[in-house]
Amino acid sequence: MYQNISSELKGHIQWIFIDREDKMNALNISLLAELGQEIKRIQSDDAVRVVVISGKGQKAFAAGADIAEFANFGSAEAKKMSADGHDVFHRIEQSRKPVIAAVNGYALGGGCELAMACHIRIASENATFGQPEVNLGVPPGYGGTQRLAQIVGKGRALDLLISARNIDASTALNYGLCTDVVPIEALLEHCEKIASKLLTKSPHAIAEVIKCTNALYDLTDGYQTEIDSFSESFETADFKEGTAAFLDKRKPNYL
Ligand code: COA
Repeated sequence: MYQNISSELKGHIQWIFIDREDKMNALNISLLAELGQEIKRIQSDDAVRVVVISGKGQKAFAAGADIAEFANFGSAEAKKMSADGHDVFHRIEQSRKPVIAAVNGYALGGGCELAMACHIRIASENATFGQPEVNLGVPPGYGGTQRLAQIVGKGRALDLLISARNIDASTALNYGLCTDVVPIEALLEHCEKIASKLLTKSPHAIAEVIKCTNALYDLTDGYQTEIDSFSESFETADFKEGTAAFLDKRKPNYL
């Protein structure tokens, strides 16, 4: 049914895998559309009580938006890309069924933003988190400037966003960016245990907790500011240099 994700119901747990292992599970536009469609479908599927999102393989949860796909975009296409991505991640964040991110490796850029849109993040020991967008000449475009600050606080968020510094799983745990770190072989089993515990709680109360907690952050136009900044950056020389450097497998030169 889907080309870029797989989704399977086992018991009352929906397991969604990002399925572009040869491209480090980079999030292209059709993948995000499929993910958005699946999250929407799940809301009205009574059999689903908990969702787990992970990446195929043992290297990457998702290494960001697909740089090869957006490298030639102008600001109008970038604005649509960013706004559509925001919709999908907002839908995950607002899901009435709890969503667990099983972070099985690189969670960079859009991958980190996807994990942050989920309600619970569990990382494997080899997980790496980061927002490397400034290397590419753009700010994050899928909510990273907002959710990172919400989760780890403004000081740590700005450090990570400005420096493009990656952090390992134990630092992510220390920052509160994930709540558990387990060996990669144990990751899915551990998430299944957490999901099974959630199945014993009131679905109504869980949905209300998610709604109420999200309400704390609703009164902000920061998300729109991010969409505008992201798309305007696509017209700059820095963006052209940053994406060309990635595709040429060299370091960017921003002199
Ligand atoms: N978009 C598009 N393709 C990507 C990608 C992305 N975000 N991340 C990785 N890939 C592709 C690579 O281009 C490569 O494709 P190729 O085999 O056709 O050359 C393939 O996935 C494997 O990646 P590679 O870089 O060779 O693996 P690595 O182990 O040396 O490095 C990363 C892994 C994740 C550190 C590195 O791929 C990376 O830095 N990715 C980009 C991260 C990023 O900037 N994300 C933010 C995007 S907004």
